[in-house]
Amino acid sequence: MPQLIDAFARKFYYLRLSVTDVCNFRCTYCLPNGYRPHGSNNNSFLSLDEIWRLTHAFADLGTEKVRLTGGEPSLRRDFCDIIAAVRSHTQISTLAVTTNGYRLERDIASWREAGLTALNVSVDSLDSRQFKLITGQDKFRQVMAGIDAAFAAGFSQVKVNTVLMRNINDIHLDGFLAWIKTRPIQLRFIELMETGDGGELFRSRHVSGEVLRRQLIPMGWQLQPRGRTDGPAQVFRHPDYQGEIGLIMPYAKDFCAGCNRLRVSAMGDLHLCLFGEDGIPLRDLLADDDGLEQLKARISGGLQLKKQTHFLHQGNTGATPNLSFIGG
Ligand code: 5AD
Ligand code: SF4
Repeated sequence: MPQLIDAFARKFYYLRLSVTDVCNFRCTYCLPNGYRPHGSNNNSFLSLDEIWRLTHAFADLGTEKVRLTGGEPSLRRDFCDIIAAVRSHTQISTLAVTTNGYRLERDIASWREAGLTALNVSVDSLDSRQFKLITGQDKFRQVMAGIDAAFAAGFSQVKVNTVLMRNINDIHLDGFLAWIKTRPIQLRFIELMETGDGGELFRSRHVSGEVLRRQLIPMGWQLQPRGRTDGPAQVFRHPDYQGEIGLIMPYAKDFCAGCNRLRVSAMGDLHLCLFGEDGIPLRDLLADDDGLEQLKARISGGLQLKKQTHFLHQGNTGATPNLSFIGG
């Protein structure tokens, strides 16, 4: 089995694929002014055929897990077809989506039927008023109903992403814990990351996940061992809770040592790091099936350029104004 390996012996089983930049939410840390079309060909995101060819190449290179992101991926009208196209490569056994939950209640059953195997929903607050303040959308109840619908459709676990923000949600740990006591939710607190556009918010709201860890350990939450295709979350369990807590701390020492993911933007550029250099264009090789071998060579060659770590500690956010174009 071929395998993507970089110069630091990290193996890459996991592709995060953005299928659109468009988003209908306006999260304060991502798109506070809403989605603005940019560039000349802003609406020509990868087509269904291009997505099939791209994931074919990654599957041949050993990719086992794909995550569809955005923007809001479910705004694509052909979203079910995208799911089915990615899953048509049998090597790809895990297909996840990260969604803001807007279409969940209506569509989750059909996504599952098309082949979706895992689900991450963004929920930054359990208070509907505060949810609206953060996302710009009064959709708290709709998103909660969507999570219920996911369980009803047969998902045994749902992952929820919560971006940790000082005095906004770090002070509500008790409420979050009560929520997951009887629900098989993996609630993942993600440290706010500094983006090109988000410097001010970062300075006022960034708080380390350590603050939560120091509260969880004395309560009896225990750190779990990490699986091969797992993301960078530290996962904690507690015997009295059905849910789990995940902490994602991109500023922690050695965070990048466990990096197992590559990203492709909705325009078809390979990004080696969320906070990196410009992407490596792949789209010119996606126009027909003949580009496959060249495409595989460009992907594995490009990987050799992957740096050991990001440079966030130096306040260098790379070329990343916000995360909407590459999906967190
Ligand atoms: N910091 C941390 N996480 C972010 N996301 C987007 N922007 C940021 C940021 N600046 C993540 C959130 C959201 C997902 C779509 O992307 O986890 O749930
Ligand atoms: Fe949209 Fe996700 Fe960005 Fe929120 S974080 S604005 S839901 S892309």
